[in-house]
Amino acid sequence: MTDNNSKSQAYVQCINPACRAQFDCMEVLYKCPKCGELLDTLYNWDKIELPGKLSNFGKRWATRDNRLDFSGVWRFRELLNFCPDKNKVSVGEGQTILEQNCAIAEHLGMKPDCLHLQYEGLNPSGSFKDNGMTAALSHAMMVGAKSCACASTGNTSASVALYAHKCGIKCTVFIGTGRIAFGKLSQAMDYGAQTIQIHGDFDDCMKQVQDVCNELGLYLLNSLNPYRLEGQKTIMFRIIEALGWQVPDWILVPGGNLGNSSSFGKAFYELKELGLIDRIPRLVIINSTGADTLNDLVNNKGLKWNDGNVDQKIIDDYYADLTAKNFSPHTIASAIEISRPVNLKKCLRAIDVCNGLVMAVPDEEIKDAKALIGKYGLGCEPASAATVAGLRHLLADGTIDKDARVACVLTGHVLKDPNLTVNYHKDLEGQFSNPPVEVANDLQEIIKLIK
Ligand code: F0G
Repeated sequence: MTDNNSKSQAYVQCINPACRAQFDCMEVLYKCPKCGELLDTLYNWDKIELPGKLSNFGKRWATRDNRLDFSGVWRFRELLNFCPDKNKVSVGEGQTILEQNCAIAEHLGMKPDCLHLQYEGLNPSGSFKDNGMTAALSHAMMVGAKSCACASTGNTSASVALYAHKCGIKCTVFIGTGRIAFGKLSQAMDYGAQTIQIHGDFDDCMKQVQDVCNELGLYLLNSLNPYRLEGQKTIMFRIIEALGWQVPDWILVPGGNLGNSSSFGKAFYELKELGLIDRIPRLVIINSTGADTLNDLVNNKGLKWNDGNVDQKIIDDYYADLTAKNFSPHTIASAIEISRPVNLKKCLRAIDVCNGLVMAVPDEEIKDAKALIGKYGLGCEPASAATVAGLRHLLADGTIDKDARVACVLTGHVLKDPNLTVNYHKDLEGQFSNPPVEVANDLQEIIKLIK
C-alpha cells in the first residue's frame, strides 16, 4: 500500500469508491488485492511538468530523431508518466492518421467534411493494441519482468508477441479454438510467441490466463493491466492533434473487452481536469449483436456507473444466466466476440464521463460497412467497421447530426482477416461485393471485359 502524497509522480488506485486502496507502480498488480476491483494508474499532476497547452506536444514532430518523440504514444509522455525514459520500449507505434473521408460521409448522408476515420491499422502489428503494449511492456521492463502472457481474440497476441520479442522476454499467448482470424494467428507464430490454443472461447482463455499468471508469476498483458490503458489514451490525443487541437463531437469505437472505451473516457476526464480541453466529446460503444453484453446490460438492464457504486447483482445475475444457458458469443467480428468484458465497470465510468451511448449492430451490417470502408477508405477488419455500421443508425434516427464532427476508430488493418473479405466478395454476400471475374487466357476476351 502507498499513499499518493508520497513523492512518486504516478501510483495505482482501486476504482471502487469504498476501497480506493493505493499502490506503488513497482508492484505488479492487475486487480485490487484488497477488494478485487479494477485498478487505475493515476498521477500526482503537480509533480509532472505539463506542456501548458496540448498543441505544445506538436513541437515534438520537429525532434522526431528522438525515438520517444517519434512514437505516437510517447510524444505525449507527460500524460502517461509512470516510468523512466530508459525503460520505455518503442517500435514506432502510433504513426496513424485521421482520414477525413468525404466519400463515406456522403454515402451516409453526412456533411462531407464531418466524418473522420482514425486508422489504427497503421501500427507496427496492424492494430490499436500497439498503443497499449508499448506502455505495458515499458512497465514490464521497469519491474524487471522476464516472461509475459495474454489471452486474445488475435490482435493482442500479435502485438504482445511483437513487443515481447523486442524486449527479449518470453511470451505465451492463449487463443480460443477456431475463433481467430488467420492474419493475427500468423503474426503470433511468426513473432515467436508460444501459442496455446484452449478448447474454449475468449472468455475461457481470459480466465485461464489470469490464473496462469498468478501461479507462474508471468506479466499479464490484457487490458486489465492499468498501464496498457494509459497507452491507449493517446489514440484520443492523436485525434485531437489531427483536428488542429480541437475536440470532435462524437467518438465511435467497437466494444469487446472494453479497454479502449475505458481508456478514452479516462483520457478525456484527465484532459478536462487539467484544463487542456474545454469540453468532452460524446462516446458511442458498439457491440456486435452476437456479443452484446454491454448493450444488454446498459440498455435493457439499466446498469450504470452510479458514482462507482455499480449494481454488482445485475452483473452477477446476467453472467449466471449466460452460464446457465451455456452461452458462447458468436460474431463474424471475431475481435469482439466476448461476453464477459473485463473492463465493464471502467467502461460504465467512461459512459458517464462522456455522456456515452451503447448499441449493437448485426453481422450483415458490419460486413457491408467493412466493404464500404474498403471501397472508399483505407480498409479495416470487421470489428472496426461496427463503428460505421452504428453511425448509419445514429444518423438515421437523428441522434447524431449530419454536421456533427465524428471520429470513428478503425481499430485493425484490413489484412488481419483476409478470409472474411474474400468470402464477402466472392460469394456475392452483400451490397458492395466485388468478385474477381474469370476469363479465358485470350487478349480479345480480356479487352472485352475491361472496355
Ligand atoms: N477492434 C479490434 C480490431 C480488436 O482486436 C479488439 C479487441 C477490439 C476492437 C475491442 O477492443 O477490447 O478494447 O473493447 N481485441 C482483443 C484481442 C480482445 O484479444 O485482440 P476492446
